[in-house]
Amino acid sequence: MCGIIGYTGKKNITDELVAGLEKLEYRGYDSAGIAYCERGKLVTVKAVGRISELKKLTDGLRPDSSCGIGHTRWATHGKPTLANCHPHLSYGGKFAIVHNGIIENCRQLRLLCESRGISPISDTDSELIAHLLEMYFEGDLRKAADKVAGMLEGSFAVGILCSCRPNEIYAFASRSPLAIGEGRNFCALASDGNALSGAETLVFLKDGESALLRPSGAEYYRKGKRINPQSAPFSAASALSGKDGYAHYMLKETYEQPEAAARTIAALSGIKLRGALSFIGCGSSYHAGLSMLPLACHACSRPAQAQLAGEFLCSERVKSRGTTAVLLSQSGETADTVAAALEAERRACRTFAIVNVASSTLTRVCGAHAVTRAGPEIAVATTKGFTSQVVAVAAMLARGTLAESTERLPFIMEKALEAGVSDEAEEASRLLAISPNAFFIGRKADYGVALEGALKLKEITYIPALGLSAGELKHGSISLIGEGTPVVVVHTDPRLREKTLLTVASVRARGGFVIAVTDDRDVCAACDLAVRIPSSDPFLSPAVSVIPLQLIAYRAAVLLGRDVDKPRNLAKSVTVE
Ligand code: M6R
Repeated sequence: MCGIIGYTGKKNITDELVAGLEKLEYRGYDSAGIAYCERGKLVTVKAVGRISELKKLTDGLRPDSSCGIGHTRWATHGKPTLANCHPHLSYGGKFAIVHNGIIENCRQLRLLCESRGISPISDTDSELIAHLLEMYFEGDLRKAADKVAGMLEGSFAVGILCSCRPNEIYAFASRSPLAIGEGRNFCALASDGNALSGAETLVFLKDGESALLRPSGAEYYRKGKRINPQSAPFSAASALSGKDGYAHYMLKETYEQPEAAARTIAALSGIKLRGALSFIGCGSSYHAGLSMLPLACHACSRPAQAQLAGEFLCSERVKSRGTTAVLLSQSGETADTVAAALEAERRACRTFAIVNVASSTLTRVCGAHAVTRAGPEIAVATTKGFTSQVVAVAAMLARGTLAESTERLPFIMEKALEAGVSDEAEEASRLLAISPNAFFIGRKADYGVALEGALKLKEITYIPALGLSAGELKHGSISLIGEGTPVVVVHTDPRLREKTLLTVASVRARGGFVIAVTDDRDVCAACDLAVRIPSSDPFLSPAVSVIPLQLIAYRAAVLLGRDVDKPRNLAKSVTVE
């Protein structure tokens, strides 16, 4: 969470920093700020709310320096207020810092500051870094920064500006991504390499490494010694792109799914997942793993399970030699999933990451990895990230006729997009938008999709939505169903028809309004409203059946006037445990 940016070069610093923050806004958007040097003094400009609020304050500013740092925040310690907004200044005004991550020993560090008569003005853990820097500064920024970095516990990527070196930025990182980009006459940093467009090369700091950025380039250090890390060329293809005429990124990304799936299948079909499988992820990535369990267990006869990364971390530490922990993550930065990868290694599992961001942390901590080819996903609510994970798992597991069916998925997904804009789907959106709550149910592969459908609806419309295994409804939750309660039934497996029909009947008997998302004529006929989807192999159907659910949720959110791409309280990548 949170995005940090830094630039030293020749351009107008306020414009450069704000433009960089706009690209990072998906990482957090409750407040934002920048810092630069003006006539030897550090200046900060901060705003609560979106980057657009900050932009109103910086438009027209022409500082005399072309070096600065910026931050867009997703609150962890303290509310989104100006005081808690980064950059934070040190007590004497000599240092400004931006920080992404969590300082776990912040209580002790706060006490240390207070014992020296320094009273932090914010509730944040980050501000302490600025004070510690000034406390230990004896003329050598690198020495002071190394000392402070050694005192911090937790995860951090930090950018530092010092009033005595106005054209330089110092940065260090541990367990939090930080990319340094070099271009002609400038050097920049960002917590997402994709935000560094214009850079010719990129270096990702490894844990414990630091960098000194000057307009002429960067110097890198580890334990006080100069190092020459490997740089990679910046790929223009991965630069964050625009909305291409779509009203929202979520809509654009929904429509990109067939192509993203085709690219992913083509790229990953040659890779094999070995042994017993344990799919681990958070949110939608967990749902993707869950929805692929029937394929792994039933179609491919593999022992397999799906676990939430956070729960895996809390479970008993049992050695699982021979198991491949498949870490699913669009961003590759989710803190719980990264921690689960490290924990899986401690449990003697093989670790295999399936990520959409090639340069992400998970690719570095896992034994092996595969990169889905969804392209940058900006909307907080994932769409193509989810389906790319589903087809990635299918491409790496399916053999014979199932592999052929996998190849055909992108064409079927095209048709599912049409189902998502059918009159029935639009009617479903209208109904859901005025409902106080909603249910999403399904069995086997459809269970994971039901959970995903519920998550899509709640995260972008704020309507409480419960995703359930269809068989579980009768064990308690059915008590919530009354006249008109919308229940979305996902049904794609003909072997489950009778069970689905029974569930539909029991919901309707209690007044529930059943919306089917199915290719099954009998199920359609038994429901109040049916969104007819194209048929696909039931083991692969999650890549298809989820699409109308995404579009239904999207339209409901638009009807309600929600901020679809940046829903309240959320951020695109959750880099805190
Ligand atoms: O980047 P990741 O796939 O690891 O993210 C995991 C979840 O935070 C993510 O899927 C979240 O649930 C999405 N906002 C859902 O749309």
